[in-house]
Amino acid sequence: MTSAVVLEATDLTRHYQISRGAFRQPGLLKALNGVTFSLQRGKTLAVVGESGCGKSTLARLVTLIETPTSGELRIAGVDLSRSDNATRRTWRSRVQIVFQDPYGSLNPRQKIGLALEEPLLVNSSKTKDERRKAAQDMLALVGLRPEHYDRYPHMFSGGQRQRIAVARALMLNPEILVLDEPVSALDVSIQAQILNLLVDLQERFNLAYLFISHDLSVVQHIADDVMVMYLGVPVESGSRDTIFTDPKHPYTQALLSATPVADPFRVKKRIVLRGELPSPISPPSGCTFHPRCPVAIDICAKVNPELRRVGKSLVACHVAKV
Ligand SMILES: Nc1ncnc2c1ncn2[C@@H]1O[C@H](COP(=O)(O)OP(=O)(O)OP(=O)(O)O)[C@@H](O)[C@H]1O
Ligand SMILES: [Mg+2]
Repeated sequence: MTSAVVLEATDLTRHYQISRGAFRQPGLLKALNGVTFSLQRGKTLAVVGESGCGKSTLARLVTLIETPTSGELRIAGVDLSRSDNATRRTWRSRVQIVFQDPYGSLNPRQKIGLALEEPLLVNSSKTKDERRKAAQDMLALVGLRPEHYDRYPHMFSGGQRQRIAVARALMLNPEILVLDEPVSALDVSIQAQILNLLVDLQERFNLAYLFISHDLSVVQHIADDVMVMYLGVPVESGSRDTIFTDPKHPYTQALLSATPVADPFRVKKRIVLRGELPSPISPPSGCTFHPRCPVAIDICAKVNPELRRVGKSLVACHVAKV
């Protein structure tokens, strides 16, 4: 039996050199600072965290658009973190991405059918008729109609455009789909339709999803496992039920306290975090969350906590207890 793990990231790191004006040394922005996780066939790992915590950077590394500064990225057991461009190109078809706003990635003058066929033109030996058939089959699979083949992007609603983006991402039979805020721009009723479509497609093709979102109510609907990020590092990860019912990290607790949850009988006190998210160019010492943490103690400003098992989840916190 082949392993269910399709992707393994170990200590993935991505730093950017940034200019800070003519009279200052260039700075180092640590967008991702050591992220370890794996993706499994047919399962969804959700990545959550505030704006700027490194979610899209992680998406660009996993989809082989960018190379990591250090760390390993294994797909089907092969480390692609330091491979050459030609190798990365051949693997890229196995990991596809869907963005928040598919309008930006669709050519306004290209009919939808041809947009779907485009990946096949480069990556397959299918004939013109076969490509057309494949595009039409895919339109049906994502809940669109055959006559949509000849329409242009502006003729579709936001929800339909997201269906097209998903269809296009699936044309090359990928094993992994990275979804970067795929429903954040949609009305709540449409969000549910797209999430249900994603669930159906995952079952049908046994896809692994890396699902990026800042919206915990969406995550609760779709995730098997959840990784919570803060300033470029995971601060807590575990199964969806563990994270939603028994969060251990004070940051996870604060995020959840600000989210309406499915269980209306759970009485919650809203935890309001002090201050703003610090800049990743000059992160706080020790635990980077300590200046905003409601339960921080002396050690938190001095020592960066390692991820450790607390109860059923992995938590990077000095204070967290079972
Ligand atoms: N090419 C780049 N050069 C310099 N800094 C970058 C680059 N790309 C991202 N960053 C910085 O890295 C950090 C993480 O950015 P990223 O886009 O991954 O965050 P995010 O979690 O996706 O945020 P959002 O929720 O707003 O989409 C930010 O501080 C951002 O400004
Ligand atoms: Mg982003």
